[in-house]
Amino acid sequence: MAALNINGKSYQADVDARTPLLWVLRDTIGLTGTKYGCGIAQCGACTVHIDGVAMRSCSVPVSAVVGKQITTIEGLANNGTLHKVQQAWVEHDVPQCGYCQSGMIMAVASLLAQKPKPTDAEIDQAITNICRCGTYQQVRTAIHSIASA
Ligand code: FES
Ligand code: FES
Repeated sequence: MAALNINGKSYQADVDARTPLLWVLRDTIGLTGTKYGCGIAQCGACTVHIDGVAMRSCSVPVSAVVGKQITTIEGLANNGTLHKVQQAWVEHDVPQCGYCQSGMIMAVASLLAQKPKPTDAEIDQAITNICRCGTYQQVRTAIHSIASA
């Protein structure tokens, strides 16, 4: 049994300690905004925040996040007010199919919390999420729009 804090709420998950957090979020808790892409920490579709830091939840055992603050895309907005990254995504029409975008948004939100005005090189280093639709340029534009606001 794992006691988890997700988006400010407490949950008890009756799962094996080695279960990847992604599956607990999606299958046990029912928070399906976090997506499965590769399962091997390569694509970033499953990105969530653990104590504010972007992590790939497909490769984090649930036992490693007990007692930590887990934030998923469902918890990024604050009382109905979109996070600044979500607002910029709307303004700049970033998503195409959308599948990668919850992970992309979580990765960018973590980057901006640590580096409010990232350079292109810092963006390239931090945002390694894969987008099959090729939204990389819109992602970059939206990040710079937030940084310059
Ligand atoms: S599903 Fe986790 S990085 Fe691809
Ligand atoms: S928007 Fe389609 S995979 Fe990124």
